Order: sequence, then C-alpha cells, then structure tokens
Amino acid sequence: MITVNIKRYDPVKKHEYVESFEIEEIEKMKVLDALAQINKKYDANIAYRFSCRAGQCGSCAIKINGEAKLACKAEIGDNDLLEPLDLPVIKDLIVDRSELNTKVKDLNMYMTSEDSEIVKNKPDLIKPENYAMCDQLRGCIDCYSCISMCPVIKKTDNFAGPFFMRGFSNIEFDPREDESLSEKSVENGIYYCTSCGQCTKTCPKEIDIYGKAIEKLRAKIFSEKEGPLNPHKLIRKAVLNTGRSVQPKEDSEYPEGFVKAYNKDRDNGKKNKIAFFTGCMIDNRLPWIAEYLVNVLEKLGYEVDIPLNQVCCGSPLFRTGQIDIIPDLVKTNYETFKEYDTILTVCAGCGATLKNNYPEYGVNLNVMDISEFLDGKLDPNDMNELNLKVTYHDPCHLVRSQGISEQPRNILKSIKGVEFIEMEKPDQCCGAGGGVKSGKPEIAEALADDKVDMIDKLNVDHVVTICPFCEFNINDSLVNKNSKTSVINIMELLNKAYE
Ligand code: SF4
Ligand code: SF4
Ligand code: FES
Repeated sequence: MITVNIKRYDPVKKHEYVESFEIEEIEKMKVLDALAQINKKYDANIAYRFSCRAGQCGSCAIKINGEAKLACKAEIGDNDLLEPLDLPVIKDLIVDRSELNTKVKDLNMYMTSEDSEIVKNKPDLIKPENYAMCDQLRGCIDCYSCISMCPVIKKTDNFAGPFFMRGFSNIEFDPREDESLSEKSVENGIYYCTSCGQCTKTCPKEIDIYGKAIEKLRAKIFSEKEGPLNPHKLIRKAVLNTGRSVQPKEDSEYPEGFVKAYNKDRDNGKKNKIAFFTGCMIDNRLPWIAEYLVNVLEKLGYEVDIPLNQVCCGSPLFRTGQIDIIPDLVKTNYETFKEYDTILTVCAGCGATLKNNYPEYGVNLNVMDISEFLDGKLDPNDMNELNLKVTYHDPCHLVRSQGISEQPRNILKSIKGVEFIEMEKPDQCCGAGGGVKSGKPEIAEALADDKVDMIDKLNVDHVVTICPFCEFNINDSLVNKNSKTSVINIMELLNKAYE
C-alpha cells in the first residue's frame, strides 16, 4: 500500500485541506490511475480533469510534490502530494483556465498573414528547413504548466508568461507570417523573464521556452528598432569598448582586474593544463573570489593558468538578445582557451554560456564549474574546523542550465565544522538573471525578498552560492531586511577552511 496526499478545495465552504488516501501499490502506476483508484475505492468525489490519457490534450496537468506535471504521464510515489496548478482553483485539482483562454483570444495568438504576399508569391518558403526556428515551439499542448511554475508571473501583471512568449515566438518565426510580433512581445513583458529555465524544465513537451523562444525573440527585437532596454544597451557598449561587461571599482585593489594582476607576477613561459575563466564579475567586482580559488587549488596541489586574452563570455548579451558581437567574443575565447584540457568557472552564468551556447558557434571546450572539479577531491582532515551553519542557494544557471546540484552540497557537507541546512525551495530563482536586475530591478528585488524570507527561517550564518549575480542580488535583500545571515561564495568558505 502507498499513501497519496491530495490538496483539496471545497468551493461551497471555501475550505482548503489535505486529505490522505491509502491505495494499492502497482508498479509504474501513473498519477491519473492513482486518482482513479482513489475515486473507486473511497468514492471520494475528488475533482480532477483528464481527456486523452496520452500526454496530448494537456488537461490533466497538476503539481506533484511542487512541480507541474501531466498526471497521465508522471508515476505516483509513496507519500506524494498532489496539488492544483498555481491558477485559480474551481474544485480540488481542477483550475479555472478561462482567464488564460480569454487572453489567448485577446492577444490574437494566431497567424494573421495566411493570405499574405509571402505565401502567395513565395511558396518555396513552405519547406521544413524554413520552419526550424519554430518547429519545436508548435508542440505546445496548452497545459499551462509553465505558467504555473514561472516565478515572475506571481510578482507582476506586466508579464504575460512563458506560454504566451512561446506563442509569439512560434508565430514570429513561422516563414508564412510577415507581421512582426516584436512590439507585442515587449508590451507583454518579454524583458521581465529572468532566464531561470523553470518553464523549460517543466514543459512536458520538452519545449526550450526560454532558450528557443524568449532569447530568440529578444534577439529579433534587438535586430529591430524596439529594443532592448537602455541598461542592456550599456552592457553591450561596455563589452564592445573593454571586452568586459563591468569595470573594476575605482578603489579596487586590482584596478585593472584580477587577470592582469595575476599574470604580472608569473613566469608566463610555463603552461598548465588547467585554465581559469574568471568572468567579468569575478575579474572586476569580486577579485578576491578568484584569489581564494587560486589559493584553494594550490593547497590541493593544482596550479592554474589565467590567460590574459580572455574576454566576456557573452552571457549578458545572449540573455538580452544582443548577439551581434557574440561571434567575436567566442572566437577570442576559443583562441585563448583551446589548448587547455580543463577550463574552470566560478560563475554559473559563464559556465552555462560556455557549455550550452558556444557549441552553437562550433566551439566545444571542456568546461567545469569549480564545484564539479572539487567534488570528491576534498579531505576534511586537511581543513580548519569552522563552526558555522550554512544553507545553499542553487543558481538557476547552475542547477537547471548545467544540472549541478549535488556537487556543491557534497562540498559543503565535507567542510569540517559546517552544519548544512536545506532551505524550503533552494532552486527557486532569486531574480538576478536575464538582464532583470538591471532592466526590471523591482522584480529582482521581489524575488530576492522571497529567497531571504526562506533563508531567515533557518537562522544560519551564511547562504552559500556560486554565482556573482545571485550573490549581489541576495545580499541587497539580506541588507534591506536586516537579516543576520550573510551571503558567501563557496570559494570564500573553502578558503576559510584551508587558510
Ligand atoms: S525562464 Fe523563468 S522567468 Fe522566464 S518565462 Fe521561464 S519560468 Fe518565467
Ligand atoms: S509550453 Fe509546454 S508547459 Fe507551457 S503550456 Fe505548452 S506544453 Fe505546457
Ligand atoms: S490526459 Fe491528456 S495530457 Fe494527460
């Protein structure tokens, strides 16, 4: 027997409660079959929706242990919690989709140019290769799971959400459509997306909503007159002028950045097999993190090169669609790093970009986040005892873009005297990414505040992360809320353990 917990809602009494049911365990049983068994066995009158039972109609989407999934496809497990999607609830697991359906109609989510000159005069456009950009996007089954999981929708009415962005992108890149949807995408909040990747991870049809729809649409907008936002334009200008998206502070102990300072004292004749890709934020705003990384690696017997010619990986430009100068950055970084066996990053955004975006330009480097590299190499017997309580924030571009979540936790659990406590939703976006911190700061702040509320429940000394953007954003909120917890980079913590 297994237990299934269902969050129910009685619309008459307006009462919400969780009810548990014991059902017979059947191997590989789907959630929808478990619900059917409950109805049959208990005559429970539980309301839930389904139609095709084959992952095609999208009507059975619910939350299973906090993640939106199709009940007809997901397997049931002991003690699972089934909840309705984060939409207005009608009864039990049935949600009211009418508002979203109306929005589909109001936003004219269909092609308007079927009789256009393009179709009439250029029939050769109707070829599979011309549909490549929108092919994946048209597989949507309107389940609204992505809407339910998007953290930004819960913070603003100005963002229509991933389902609609996917729809706009699908129409925009359809070769039969000659009307631009750029303006409509901006009006419906395309620059509110933090590129957290939650929609992409959630979609049962494996549509890469943020990568293939939102970023591609942002790139289209950039190529036209509407966008991007002014703060984003400044980032591009900085990269064009200096090769870096941010510059050192005037009072920095490394006025030219860490990379140049590191190379000044070194014999450049010797070449190591491992190189360190610092990234703009670590190089120019958090140079001590680079120093800690070098120190810890030296203690473990590794020496790294930090090549001088490295430039911005392009992450802030990819995320905001400003891709015209990307080929130059990719070429420079490829020439700089191509001889190395391993390239280390200590910034989730840089790592994700080098691993996921560079192959689109034909560049495949062996990139490892520092937590991947260090996992399994640390011996607590070589460390100082720290006597600290910590929790860990998963950067979106590490956990979802690179699939890294266990390695940092393994490291934290191996540091002597560190007590590791998990927060409620460690992988919930803090709001720092996708150009949102600079372009829509109120959203970055609102999401970071939620994160800090979770952190403050734990009474820990530090929240650890491996992303400079998360570090700054979470720190702003910790300070605003007078939290007793401070944010710390994993390399700073390790440096304390090894110094
Ligand atoms: S990437 Fe994140 S913020 Fe952007 S639409 Fe998807 S879920 Fe929402
Ligand atoms: S994009 Fe994916 S998750 Fe969103 S509604 Fe369509 S099928 Fe569902
Ligand atoms: S019942 Fe149709 S998708 Fe699940």
